[in-house]
Amino acid sequence: MSLKKTAAKFPRPIKDFVKRKLNQHGYYDIRDGNGLNEHGFYDIRGVGEITTIDEFKERAFAISKRSRLQTQEEVIALKKKYEQPILGEIAVERLLELQAQIIDPTNVLMFTGSQLTHTLQVLESMEKAGITDREFLATTLIHDLGKLASLKGEKWENLEGGGKIPLGENLPGSGFENCSFNWDHADVVHARFHPYVSKDMAWVLKWHSIQTECEPLMDARDRALFEKYYKPFVRHDRTFIFHHLPKKRLSDYLPLVKEFFPEKMLF
Ligand SMILES: [Fe+2]
Ligand SMILES: [Fe+2]
Repeated sequence: MSLKKTAAKFPRPIKDFVKRKLNQHGYYDIRDGNGLNEHGFYDIRGVGEITTIDEFKERAFAISKRSRLQTQEEVIALKKKYEQPILGEIAVERLLELQAQIIDPTNVLMFTGSQLTHTLQVLESMEKAGITDREFLATTLIHDLGKLASLKGEKWENLEGGGKIPLGENLPGSGFENCSFNWDHADVVHARFHPYVSKDMAWVLKWHSIQTECEPLMDARDRALFEKYYKPFVRHDRTFIFHHLPKKRLSDYLPLVKEFFPEKMLF
């Protein structure tokens, strides 16, 4: 049935109301007497804001800029904040599903792709490269769950601002744990997940977003984990796979989730 015929089935008062509302907002253009265009569709002229690529990039840049203004006091306050659960007791499987609701406004390579899509892209890319370490793959599944804090109103500049960089005075070679950095989603996922993962995987979660400026601060342990996990991970996590259409679904990874996170957790 054509849209025109479907529309004709609505009672007059509803039709009038919709027509009046659409007209009020300048949303449609009357081409025939019934408000339908030549294809039989209501002609919607912009549903509120339509963002151009340049506007998307401008917003992303503004968030990154704000994130670089983070102070040590703010980092301390955020650390304290995320010692408390964000959502409460929950299955990891559900947290992974919730990623479908997260669009990272700072990602100018994925644009409006969801974080679930991103996670599936990274996982597939790592598997394709021959990475079979199941613990490492399970950690990759959860690596960006810190961004879920945006569902509870966390500002994006506290979650993603172009990666982790040193903040204040730091001693080269003293080890990441003894240095200060800006706070981001990596700290959030680490704060909530460290009781549930091994020490090495906790390191991967916490430092997965470091930028090159952080590297001189590494100690021997950091350097070993950097070589073993950060390097192989980061080449799949960053940039060049964002156009890849995932072939697997989240459900394909459920055995992996159940293997490493069999119980509910306090997220
Ligand atoms: Fe991340
Ligand atoms: Fe990521």
